[in-house]
Amino acid sequence: MIRVLIVKDYEEVSREAALRIAEIIRSKPDAVLGLATGSTPIGCYRELIRMHKMEGLSFSKVSTFNLDEYVGLAPDHPQSYHYYMFQNLFNHVDIKVENIHIPNGVAEDLDEECLNYEESIKRAGGIDLQLLGIGRNGHIGFNEPGSSFESRTRVVKLSEQTRMDNARFFKSLDEVPTHAITMGIATIMEAKRIILLASGEAKAEAISKAIKGPKTVMVPASALQDHEDCLFIVDRKAASLL
Ligand code: GLP
Repeated sequence: MIRVLIVKDYEEVSREAALRIAEIIRSKPDAVLGLATGSTPIGCYRELIRMHKMEGLSFSKVSTFNLDEYVGLAPDHPQSYHYYMFQNLFNHVDIKVENIHIPNGVAEDLDEECLNYEESIKRAGGIDLQLLGIGRNGHIGFNEPGSSFESRTRVVKLSEQTRMDNARFFKSLDEVPTHAITMGIATIMEAKRIILLASGEAKAEAISKAIKGPKTVMVPASALQDHEDCLFIVDRKAASLL
């Protein structure tokens, strides 16, 4: 069952998420975090940075695994998720670079990169807390509608809606990569805890389908209904169809 926490606005979504992440790091300093990108988690990362600077929250033993990366974008490309993570979190906290894991979208052998990624998650002892956003079409990571619930880290083709939604970060739609590496739904489901964040009306339909709709591969986030410890933190607008 998915538990839902409905809060006033984006600021509160961010604070509630950061509080929970900080709690895990404080009780287990070497926690393994699964991290997400997109515009939604930025406020949460900002709050974690504040906690690091003002409240002594330390990431020195934390390891992280990001959900996904665009195929074809080098780590220093401003729209890559590598770049995003360093800009929005890693450059501002005391995490060790060797503990950071993000799929390499320019690996020579992408399939091998995916297998290795799964292996490193296992070697780290699995993910303690996976943070997620959600796409308007219900995607998690880059698991688009139709993705098998058994899927693992792999190369996927992005849907046109996702490319258009993410085009706002690029100069033009043409520049948005067509493929990505993403953890699979089965990979995500193995995390011990999951927290999904959503804010704004544009996410209301996806949130309602994920929670109340039938479990279907057409709404990838509906797989989370089977997770033992999954919390959605959503603002009133994203919760408006619940
Ligand atoms: C991308 C990411 C997802 C993210 C989604 C929503 O497609 N791969 O992990 O959840 O965007 O992004 P936003 O938070 O900007 O709406």
